[in-house]
Amino acid sequence: MAKTVYLYTVGCQMNVLDSELVASELLAAGYQLVHSPRAADVILLNTCSVRQHAEDKIYSALGRLKHAKQRRRQRIIGVLGCLAQKDQAQILRRAPHVDLVLGPGQLGRLREALEEIENGRGPVVYTSWPRTAGTRAEIARSFASFDPPRRSEVRAIRHQALVRVMFGCDKFCTYCVVPSVRGPEQSRPAAEIEAEVRRLADQGVVEVTLIGQTVNSYHDRSSGRSVRLADLLYRIHDTPGLRRIKFVTNHPNHMDDDLLMAVRDLPKVNPYFHVPAQSGSDRMLKLMKRGYTAAEYWQMLQRIRSIVPGAAITSDFIVGFCGESEEDFQQTVDLVRRARFKNCFIFKYSPRPGTKAAELLADDVPEPVKRLRNNQLLAIQNAISLEDNQALVGQFMEVLVEGPSKVGRKLCGPAAGQLVGRTRCDRIVVFDGQPELAGRIVPVLIQRAEAVTLFGALADCQPTPPLAACDACKAH
Ligand code: 5AD
Ligand code: SF4
Repeated sequence: MAKTVYLYTVGCQMNVLDSELVASELLAAGYQLVHSPRAADVILLNTCSVRQHAEDKIYSALGRLKHAKQRRRQRIIGVLGCLAQKDQAQILRRAPHVDLVLGPGQLGRLREALEEIENGRGPVVYTSWPRTAGTRAEIARSFASFDPPRRSEVRAIRHQALVRVMFGCDKFCTYCVVPSVRGPEQSRPAAEIEAEVRRLADQGVVEVTLIGQTVNSYHDRSSGRSVRLADLLYRIHDTPGLRRIKFVTNHPNHMDDDLLMAVRDLPKVNPYFHVPAQSGSDRMLKLMKRGYTAAEYWQMLQRIRSIVPGAAITSDFIVGFCGESEEDFQQTVDLVRRARFKNCFIFKYSPRPGTKAAELLADDVPEPVKRLRNNQLLAIQNAISLEDNQALVGQFMEVLVEGPSKVGRKLCGPAAGQLVGRTRCDRIVVFDGQPELAGRIVPVLIQRAEAVTLFGALADCQPTPPLAACDACKAH
């Protein structure tokens, strides 16, 4: 009988993709995926360590899995991903029933590790080198790229796919654990990415999202020629069957005009930029080592908007970073009010062991103040999102249908026909329609708006490819 595996994933899109690849590889090796840990011979948790809260959740899940192990001693419990790299063998001390600790740069050794454990040679800990343990090349090699053949059945939405174009980070923002758990910045060869996008489009994928921690610093030199993100967009743009291209996450210092012009000129590339500011205070930005001032970030926004009119821009902010005064926070509020982001992700600062901020700066903003600032900023952003979304009521938008909406999935009856999709500017749209529309781009008349969701109705006419920027995106 096939061995069964349950894979639980938390964290960013990099983790979502890693889990898809792990699932693809295990399926190819004859495993069967199951939806409950109870039914599984192998339980794998793909983890995140960007904030303390994410770690706490994993450790409490591991605590609960102790009984699962006691019930069946042969069951393998594995911790993959960023927490595995960060805490390494410490995980075995806190949760001795764990058999496997596998860092994100070691996923290629998963099958070898499972065999070792089955042969009684566990527990197994495979992690990459610390950032100070050798030359850059040696450390980079220890964070190996993991790109096995992909199976479409493991994707939540089959016609949309994430494509890794680079991994790791060399920015070392003082609060961030990513450079140590994901290793040095490495760009994948453009030819490999092109081939992957072609294979995905052949499987019926219509939208790819190129992902990297600082995706716009993508730089492949492997063929002897320099290929930047803008060049890559041109190279994949005409892939037959592909309709939309997105890329995340951008760093403000790499938002070159070449990239902006590529987004403007290539109809399949969405006019959408996720470009985290983190703070509106120069003092905080300096302590965070972000490498720009609030004025420089603002100028970058203006450049995006002048080259790509109507672009939707989203951002991340950290509130309550070390020493953040009320005045610093008000500068962030000011930036959020002026920038009119489509939406923002706001996080309370969480000290990460091993980072410069955790070592050198006091985490001195009290938790209630962090919470208050988080709520205040969110309320300001929500009001802006609502206002800007309301301006779209009455317009037709091109929507790529993802599938049944959450409500539609839960209910049988009339609401079961509710679909969810996204506009070119990455806005979420809910409307009634048949599930067979999943993967199609349809025109939707927007009738009502909330801060994060637009509601509309299918319009009759079908747009013909290639698609131009939709009017609503342009007008906005
Ligand atoms: N505390 C709080 N938020 C953090 N982020 C990264 N590190 C931390 C931390 N230590 C946020 C940043 C980043 C997003 C993915 O997570 O805003 O852009
Ligand atoms: Fe972390 Fe900064 Fe790198 Fe983003 S750019 S992953 S915040 S170190």
